[in-house]
Amino acid sequence: MAELPAAMDEEVWAELVRQAEAARLQAHAPYSRFLVGAALRDASGRTIVGCNVENSSYGLSQCAERTAVCTGVAQGIRQFTALVVASAGGVAPCGACRQVLAEFTRGIDLPILLVDVTGQRPLVRTTLGELLPMQFHLD
Ligand code: THU
Repeated sequence: MAELPAAMDEEVWAELVRQAEAARLQAHAPYSRFLVGAALRDASGRTIVGCNVENSSYGLSQCAERTAVCTGVAQGIRQFTALVVASAGGVAPCGACRQVLAEFTRGIDLPILLVDVTGQRPLVRTTLGELLPMQFHLD
């Protein structure tokens, strides 16, 4: 198994991975058949999950990461501290999700773990700063 991000306990990451994988199974993806699950953590240890939710009007489809962010915000959470994304192949968040994540990760470089649920590719450890350098913010 690849090395996990150091700032958080390995068991906490493992639990986030489990939650992202479980959320993935809730995906509504009848059009792409590409299921994605996301698990966000906040500073007080809460976990917020999301899955992709597609629509027959394709452009209305929502990524798993943004589902999780919006769910967290609706619960009063404004700062996320870690993210796991689970998919077949271990894809990285799309550009739109990167910008949405940037809105709620001010002041930290969000650690991100990308998980291939098929087990074929190793875990990828990255950060939002790496995926989205020179982030746009209105100050
Ligand atoms: N998708 C996500 O949920 N997250 C990503 O990081 C990439 C793409 C979803 C959107 C759509 O429902 C499906 O994957 C195929 O693009």
